[in-house]
Amino acid sequence: MDDSSPDETDGGHEWVTPPESFVEQANVTAADREAFREAGWPECWRRPGDLLDWGCGFDAVLDEDDGDEGPIRWFPGGRLNASYNCVDRHVEAGRGDETALAWEGKLGETRTYSYRELADEVNAFAAALRELGVEEGDVVTLYLPMIPELPVAMLACARIGAPHSVVFAGFSADALATRLSGADSEYLVTCDGYYRRGAALDLKRRADNACVSVGHAVEQVVVNRLDDDRPVGDHRAYADLVETHAGAEVEPVSRASDDLLFLIYTSGTTGEPTLVRHTTGGYLTHVTWTSHAVLDLGPDDTHWCSADVGWITGHSYAVYGPLALGATTVLYEGTPDHPETDRLWEIIERNGVDVFYTAPTSIRAFMKWGEQHPERHDLSSLRLLGTVGEPIDETAWHWYRNHVGDGRCPVVDTWWQTETGGIVLSTLPGVDRMRPGAVGKSLPGIETVVVDERGHRVADGEAGQLVITRPWPGMARSLCEGTDWGARRTRTVDGQWQYATGDNAVRDEDGYLHLLGRADDVLKVSDRRLSTTEIESAIVGVEGVAEAAVVVGEDDDAVRQSEIHAFVSPESNVAGDDALRGRVRTAVEEAIGPIAAPDAVTFAPSLPKTRSGKVVRRYLAAIANGEDLGDTSALRNPEVVGELESLLDR
Ligand code: WTA
Repeated sequence: MDDSSPDETDGGHEWVTPPESFVEQANVTAADREAFREAGWPECWRRPGDLLDWGCGFDAVLDEDDGDEGPIRWFPGGRLNASYNCVDRHVEAGRGDETALAWEGKLGETRTYSYRELADEVNAFAAALRELGVEEGDVVTLYLPMIPELPVAMLACARIGAPHSVVFAGFSADALATRLSGADSEYLVTCDGYYRRGAALDLKRRADNACVSVGHAVEQVVVNRLDDDRPVGDHRAYADLVETHAGAEVEPVSRASDDLLFLIYTSGTTGEPTLVRHTTGGYLTHVTWTSHAVLDLGPDDTHWCSADVGWITGHSYAVYGPLALGATTVLYEGTPDHPETDRLWEIIERNGVDVFYTAPTSIRAFMKWGEQHPERHDLSSLRLLGTVGEPIDETAWHWYRNHVGDGRCPVVDTWWQTETGGIVLSTLPGVDRMRPGAVGKSLPGIETVVVDERGHRVADGEAGQLVITRPWPGMARSLCEGTDWGARRTRTVDGQWQYATGDNAVRDEDGYLHLLGRADDVLKVSDRRLSTTEIESAIVGVEGVAEAAVVVGEDDDAVRQSEIHAFVSPESNVAGDDALRGRVRTAVEEAIGPIAAPDAVTFAPSLPKTRSGKVVRRYLAAIANGEDLGDTSALRNPEVVGELESLLDR
């Protein structure tokens, strides 16, 4: 039944009110928002902390004694284990037979794990890791596609207090090697290969190549995904290990709240990948509470976060958040358009998914394929929809709500980052009105402002950089410490602590934030977070290339899909042809991975530059997107932009 309130217009803005039927059952109510306000920061984070089982309760919510100088410590004195919270406690509560994980394989296979089965395999693999020599504090790298062994391995690491470092399976051997060395990781769990659009990819070869170039020995465990009988050579086979250790019981290691749960590399503004570390107590509290409050999850729900577990979104909302709450999480190995473009809707229907969380780029692809695909399926199990990763425009927002959510499901547009660990900006689905195209306010317990270059607040309606002005539980450890990389992202302005997000935003008069994209050289395409510098250095390494700049462009279909667009200027005697285009793509694939390969490569005699010689990517993005260029008089070579428009690779 469609009982959603009609869309309203107020102050010239369009508002969408969540339906009464949703509001009545929502986990978080207006009274809860008020309770947060009354408790005040940081005390308001006590109740979210209570969603977890602490082996030893925390002495305080936040260690403030160290003041601005850090380190900031969330839930000091508290001790807990993430795998106990995500697995054992649900079995102990008599929910062992309920489904923890529903896996949908590439070739149409399915596998489900009840909480008890998950507990058994996590224990067996934890025992195996111990046997291999992994000790508390050792970093275990997981280079795996979307197969159940990935969350199992994450939880097994968490059980023995070994921080995991998941490397997205779409990264190249070189990228894996950098991440193994950077994290000083001597253990790698990988697999023989996986399917991508029906084709088998050899992951093992990439893993072997990476290990050769790492300066230390790396012990490998291999999951046989493609071929059960493929020999693993000197390495250990996952299946054998789990079989040998079947029935093992490994006591979950008691971890201090700020002990590391995992490391994750992300692309920063430099050419080097940035290492982000997340803590056990603060991170788990943050993702559990936001899964409860924003995704409205509970033990009876089936949740599907379509992001790859190789990215932070998959860590927080496909693994830790839903499992900590005892929900069922769906894991899908394939792509949305294989074998048919209605694959996702079929999975939602068959699994009775309640909450679906995906990226705007995917929604734009669904629009392009047509509403007949979702409409052919019974999606009535859906209760709530979410998006993350990029700004979502109003058209895509409405399409998603109407054609996937039957005009009935609330849509939460959630903003956050690898560094924040979990959701920071969003509406609360049972409390707040939605504004298509705006993410909403800061969540309770989080404060943000939009500032100018010096860190001073700008007026509502004016653009500036989004900063977070109080620590939050999911914050990365480097931000707590205020050292190294962290120091460059946190600062104190007029006595006020600030974390600079790198995103530009506008706050409107209702306090809703509109995100305008990155202010720095980080490039976002769907779940992919890449560094322009890193891609550009791979391209200029190609013989015959003089210079290069990459931007996020949109393809020229009616539904604009994001893609990576490279502008490349060849050396004077070199032809910009398909052969060079191919070499450019290969170079990026080898240095970073297929995920970073440019979709379009436009050759240009030169790139638009300021008088001081800096390439202005803003104009290139406008050209790639067919937008108005505005005033180009500040350029040293304004004539080049007109020329570029006619040379575009389409
Ligand atoms: C962008 C992904 C607009 C933003 C969770 C941020 C968004 C970067 C949104 C982090 C949103 C994420 N609206 N932009 N709802 N969510 N972003 O680290 O630029 O992969 O800084 O974390 O994605 O990307 P990351």
